[in-house]
Amino acid sequence: MTQDELKTLVGQAALHYILPGMLVGVGTGSTVNKFIDALASVKDSIAGAVSSSNASTERLQALGIRVFEATEVEELAVYVDGADEIDHAGHMVKGGGAALTREKIVAAQSRQFICIADESKRVTVLGKFPLPVEVIPMAAKRIARQFAALGGLASLRLKDGAPLVTDNGQHILDVTGLQIQDPRAFELQVSQWPGVVTVGVFAFQKADVCLLGTEAGVKTLTF
Ligand code: A5P
Repeated sequence: MTQDELKTLVGQAALHYILPGMLVGVGTGSTVNKFIDALASVKDSIAGAVSSSNASTERLQALGIRVFEATEVEELAVYVDGADEIDHAGHMVKGGGAALTREKIVAAQSRQFICIADESKRVTVLGKFPLPVEVIPMAAKRIARQFAALGGLASLRLKDGAPLVTDNGQHILDVTGLQIQDPRAFELQVSQWPGVVTVGVFAFQKADVCLLGTEAGVKTLTF
């Protein structure tokens, strides 16, 4: 099976967690796009969605799914999103699609995080995928020096030759060279650096369930 077929498989498998009348938290990325396509098949039975990015909002609305603001909803039963890496405990690295801040916000108001991923995302230790960190631009160079002190190399993410601007009007640093042995301690530490909007380690908002696409089918991992 191709990686794209594995993504389709887990996107469809996540429908199992969607019940009639539900408001669904929806992540961002190529795997979630498959979930959104599958969600369209039950659009008349769900109440709608809360989205984590402008890109997902557009896709949801194009398929006729009503999108609510996060501020209109107190709590969501489930949040479905992909990951760039996921470890044995459900800790993740996210933000390859630059939507990490809103993803963490919607995940935080959801009771259950369902991660959908193909098996290439499974790791023993987080850090091989360049860690995305959303930052306030004026702090970017200082934050890069703080990562250097931890052995990381931070690069400003570019788009069409200019710094990528997130949905929140901020920039992204991608940090290589890290081995994140204690994701909770790391997330706590980096989140406190002035100018960090969101670090792409999801240890406090970790997955509760991972639907992992493998050659043998979808494996359900619970944490
Ligand atoms: C978006 O900002 C990310 O957190 C995505 O969830 C992550 O990058 C996975 O994306 P893919 O499903 O496209 O691999």
